[in-house]
Amino acid sequence: MGRESKYVAEPFRIKMVETISVLSREERERKIAEAHFNPFYLRAEDVYIDLMTDSGTNAMSAAQWSALIQGDEAYAGARSFFKFEAAGKDIFGYDFIMPVHQGRAAEKVLFSLLLSKGQYAVSNMFFDTTRAHVELAGARAIDCVTPEAKDPQIRAPFKGNMDVACLEALIAKLGARQIGMVNMTITNNSAGGQPVSLDNIRSVAGVCKKHGIHLNIDAARFAENAYFVKQREPACQDMTIKQIIREMFSFADTFTMSAKKDAIVNIGGIVGINDGSSDLVIKSKANCISYEGFTTYGGLAGRDLEAIAVGLYEGIDEEFLSYRIGQMEYLAACFDEEEVVYQAPVGGHGVFVDAAAMFPQIPYDEFPGMVLGTELYKEAGIRATEIGSYMLGNDPDTGKQLKSEFEFLRLAIPRRVYTRSHLDVVVEAMLSVKKRAPQFKRGMRITWEPPILRHFQAHLSAIEK
Ligand code: F0G
Repeated sequence: MGRESKYVAEPFRIKMVETISVLSREERERKIAEAHFNPFYLRAEDVYIDLMTDSGTNAMSAAQWSALIQGDEAYAGARSFFKFEAAGKDIFGYDFIMPVHQGRAAEKVLFSLLLSKGQYAVSNMFFDTTRAHVELAGARAIDCVTPEAKDPQIRAPFKGNMDVACLEALIAKLGARQIGMVNMTITNNSAGGQPVSLDNIRSVAGVCKKHGIHLNIDAARFAENAYFVKQREPACQDMTIKQIIREMFSFADTFTMSAKKDAIVNIGGIVGINDGSSDLVIKSKANCISYEGFTTYGGLAGRDLEAIAVGLYEGIDEEFLSYRIGQMEYLAACFDEEEVVYQAPVGGHGVFVDAAAMFPQIPYDEFPGMVLGTELYKEAGIRATEIGSYMLGNDPDTGKQLKSEFEFLRLAIPRRVYTRSHLDVVVEAMLSVKKRAPQFKRGMRITWEPPILRHFQAHLSAIEK
């Protein structure tokens, strides 16, 4: 089982460890019931392998930990800021780089300047908080992902791409003035961590330029995206990762970034503006000061800026990326052998298992992804998140449950945290659940839910009959 698959050995050794322990099956059954079958209510110490997210859950290096001590905690103009800024300018090639406390803060600072009431923002796919900040700015968010992303079993190299024809049709229908922003999410998280090609970014930028529309990159997983571009786009195979990053970002006007992913830190975010003479610089500084803090710390401690400055380079190291993506490929190869269906080919930060394929008898409104998540926790103490109808929620007008394109359970892999043996535990547990899957007659129902962003807080129970 998968053991024949190539596993790219870790390009590091371990200097510090954190004990994790496994509860008994009985205890896990009790804990998940006490958590109302919602993994957000579990205590982390009751989880053995935590694949809830790859965000802020990464292991920092010795170089990053030692950089923390260098933190300059001055309110304005701290030395740590200049290191952070220099790394950002060097990697992305932008004139203006400003820290914020995480990705959604970057969205809050920038989107309110780009969007106004009644306007639209179009993306290959918006991440939830990104969509929320479009809506908070009074605009509507529209996804235009390439159609092949919607079938988990179609293997295509760039399933994260924007459907450029769809974008052009929207511009023709709504009028360019009504579109305040186009946003490219790289990699495309909601479609399964799927990459976006350089060619696609170039085409989208061409359309934006033609119509005078602002182009933003949601850069949370920019390094993983660049690695896929190097692997899969023939024109880019001789470029370095950094050259590819420079090229990708050269096409956009701005970027918003959660540093909690590819910069391999626990907290942080960045706003980048390509043209330093843009009036967005002054306006985004004003927003940062109001919401986050002075422009040279943006809601972070000086030590956090130090860790990001180092992590940005570690995250774009090709050897690291080959190991990192190799972990996903190893898990995916194990699943292929056992016919566990997932968004294929595997993406950059996790394996998105198709729960609808595993539980075809469970309809979308009984949440197959939540059933799979619950069973994986009971089986081996593994925590993951549902990305499907449960997360999508209800239609705001009718209050009816919406049907998602996908019923995924996302196994997101934190960077440099788990070993091959942990991945093998995940595979064993998944197979054991898959064997039992046909015995499940019904799924789950929601017994209580808050009005918005329900998936974080809702209570669920198994439907007995
Ligand atoms: N954009 C993308 C593509 C993301 O995946 C995230 C966060 C954000 C923006 C917001 O960044 O959390 O730093 O405020 N994604 C996490 C996840 C939470 O689990 O996928 P943030």
